[in-house]
Amino acid sequence: MSFVNVNLSENIAILEINRPEGLNALNTEVLSDLLEAISALHEEEDLRALIVTGAGEKSFVAGADIGEMSGLNSREAENFGHFGSSVFEALRQIPCPVIAAVNGYALGGGFELALACDIRLASTTARFAFPETGLGITPGFGGTQRLAKLCGTGVASELIFTGRRVKAEEALALGIVNKVVEPDQLIDEALEMAKAIADKAPIAVAKAKQAIYASEELSIEQGLDLEAAFFAHCFETQDQKRAMKAFLDKEEFHDFQNL
Ligand code: CAA
Repeated sequence: MSFVNVNLSENIAILEINRPEGLNALNTEVLSDLLEAISALHEEEDLRALIVTGAGEKSFVAGADIGEMSGLNSREAENFGHFGSSVFEALRQIPCPVIAAVNGYALGGGFELALACDIRLASTTARFAFPETGLGITPGFGGTQRLAKLCGTGVASELIFTGRRVKAEEALALGIVNKVVEPDQLIDEALEMAKAIADKAPIAVAKAKQAIYASEELSIEQGLDLEAAFFAHCFETQDQKRAMKAFLDKEEFHDFQNL
């Protein structure tokens, strides 16, 4: 019995954290199942988009498991933090786009899981917060780094220092989420976006993803060099040749082969 369900249909997968009785809180077992699922998805060569969501109607993920954390000493906490961060980093490094479908509470580690995805869609019931400082800890699975990169240090500082809970509409205004939809529309909306992505050239999309994240590390000159190299790489693909020929022949083209 796994705490993570993966449903792969054609080239789109939906990954669901499945511990609804604990509001999908992340303990070591859930994180291990998540890592196993992510590792398997890394092997899916024609995966074109991944949706991450939480089971049940109330919660995406309500954070790391406080019961498990309460007994940790400092060394064990460091290991737990490294483990959670490494699982989320494995998710971020999936080559195809990853969409978080945030269906309720995204607190602490749950907010951090959403931040490790490339795009966030939220239901109107989504609630984002970092309650950590009220528990005597800092965020531990990447929150200080990823929220600051996404929204700037001002927004990250306020939300992490105060633990204030942010509703979906405010999360949209802050740039935390890309879109807010009704709860019963969330998965359909995520699937529609996933299909729009899956309809594009997978090599070009994967390279664009790599280049976008590289922009966080590189100087503009280095970033432009990397982009030029990826742009050049695309011209070695069959997909580029066939898509451009179709354009010139005035034909619709949706038959990208990942070649
Ligand atoms: N850890 C462990 N158990 C949790 C949990 C968590 N983070 N969040 C919820 N649960 C459990 C509750 O203990 C409860 O279990 P029982 O039925 O066995 O008592 C069950 O889920 C349902 O939760 P509630 O009864 O509390 O539901 P509610 O509707 O009254 O409240 C809530 C919902 C506001 C999300 C509340 O559960 C809550 O505040 N949860 C904790 C959120 C939190 O602080 N998350 C951050 C953790 S720290 C972290 O994540 C560190 C990091 O960066 C890695």
